[in-house]
Amino acid sequence: MPKRRAPSILKRPHADIIGRTILYYPSLPSTMDMAKKMAKEGMDEGAVIIASEQTEGRGRLGRKWVAPPDSSLSLSIILRPSMNQLPQLNMIASLAVVRSIQNVTGLRPLIKWPNDVLLNSKKVSGILIENVFEGAKLRAAIVGIGININLDPSSFPEIASIATSLSIEAHRDVSPHAVLTSFLDALEELYKELREGGNVYKKWLPFVETVGKTVRVKSGEAVEEGYVESIDANGSLILRKPDGRRLTMIAGEVTLHI
Ligand code: BTN
Repeated sequence: MPKRRAPSILKRPHADIIGRTILYYPSLPSTMDMAKKMAKEGMDEGAVIIASEQTEGRGRLGRKWVAPPDSSLSLSIILRPSMNQLPQLNMIASLAVVRSIQNVTGLRPLIKWPNDVLLNSKKVSGILIENVFEGAKLRAAIVGIGININLDPSSFPEIASIATSLSIEAHRDVSPHAVLTSFLDALEELYKELREGGNVYKKWLPFVETVGKTVRVKSGEAVEEGYVESIDANGSLILRKPDGRRLTMIAGEVTLHI
């Protein structure tokens, strides 16, 4: 087994929660697993685990996450929210990605429910949240973020037609460091708001492009079609079926805009 190289340790002394400690690894199987391990060992809330390369990066629904070395930002953050704050983690994570992209590139990303971030209708960032329980008690939520910075999707047939990157959309090189610091600042602001009892839903909803579309949604084995009337404050999709029935979908994947 190859010996894992030690991480560089970066600090953001001005941060109150997010990124007080940042561990930067040249290569990891997945930042999710390293963050989970550290969360179980008692690592501080807000610690950020970054990898320049992931050999087994994963996405939602068991998919592989493609990110060759130095093409993307791949990171996981250890948070310790309460159970009732969990539905909003998705929202604050995607909104923080949106704000950082706007801030650094001036582009206006949109969110495809539940939490893909799109530019020009193509995916530029994905979010994966995995929770760590101890019995029934929530010990931590690991928020994993992948942002395509200088990735050229045309080299990867499986994502060539559905993915894009910041450098492609901005027509210039984009600094991963600038995106990282802007993202951590945005997440810190939104997470503090959440901890203080605020609700990010109203800020998040205007960026969700899925509302008002007729879609096909896959959830496990089930496939539903209908018109997206709204997304509720818990982040569930409210679908109006062709027969008039209303369906609330907690999770799933929009596979087609009809
Ligand atoms: C998705 O869109 O399916 C979610 C993709 C999440 C990818 C990130 S990259 C950093 C972290 N480590 C992983 O293995 N996955 C997440």
